[in-house]
Amino acid sequence: MRLDKYLSQRTEFSRSRIKDLIAEKKVMVNDIAAVKANMNVSEADNITIAGNAVRQEKFITLIMNKPAGYISATEDRSEKIVIDLLPPEYSGQKLSPVGRLDKDTTGMLLLTNDGELLHKLTSPKKHVMKYYIAHLSREFTSEAARLLENGIALKDGSICKPSKAAALDEKRQTILIAISEGKYHQVKRMLAAAGNHVEKLHRTAIGGLVIPEDLLPGESRVLSDKDLCKVLKTNDIFSLLINMLRKNSS
Ligand code: URA
Repeated sequence: MRLDKYLSQRTEFSRSRIKDLIAEKKVMVNDIAAVKANMNVSEADNITIAGNAVRQEKFITLIMNKPAGYISATEDRSEKIVIDLLPPEYSGQKLSPVGRLDKDTTGMLLLTNDGELLHKLTSPKKHVMKYYIAHLSREFTSEAARLLENGIALKDGSICKPSKAAALDEKRQTILIAISEGKYHQVKRMLAAAGNHVEKLHRTAIGGLVIPEDLLPGESRVLSDKDLCKVLKTNDIFSLLINMLRKNSS
């Protein structure tokens, strides 16, 4: 990865400030002053700025805005996979998607090579909430909301944990739904069990982190420590999201 990009992801310095620091000979790569901002570096390099060591990442976690048409897998013979969307510098990092989004589901997907984090985020015991915007083929009724709140039984008989859902539009065909589990096709199956059908699904938030507006479909970036803390937050942002999404659509 380019030295300036590498440093801007790991320090508080902007890329232009990093260029200045390089010109001032304050950036050392393996004890030699760096001369070019675009020199190639990796985690294996020892980098200091004004004598201070730059933190080397043991693990890396990315946030992606998943577009439709890609499956959440690390390999597949016939389908396009989310790993294909990663910038080349991350392709050798053994990143795995944290949980799964269906091929046609869009929105926030995390990818990590940190096994412990993967477990934390996918274990239903940890109660990390996932928030989805679902477009439905029929009106979302108050009876459906009640069924979801009480823990709906799927058509195969399995019972879901209680979940929250509320309409975002007047026609009541677009809803926000929050779940803490990750059963196969869970949101689609929950709504099917409530007599409806999901036409489009988009994950808008995980834990306390809302997908950044400037992260375009197909793009991914390193998740900062601050945003990782937000992801791991177990406080409920349902009402906050409802207000934000209703305001955006009015
Ligand atoms: N629930 C679904 O039905 N599909 C997804 O992709 C995610 C949650």
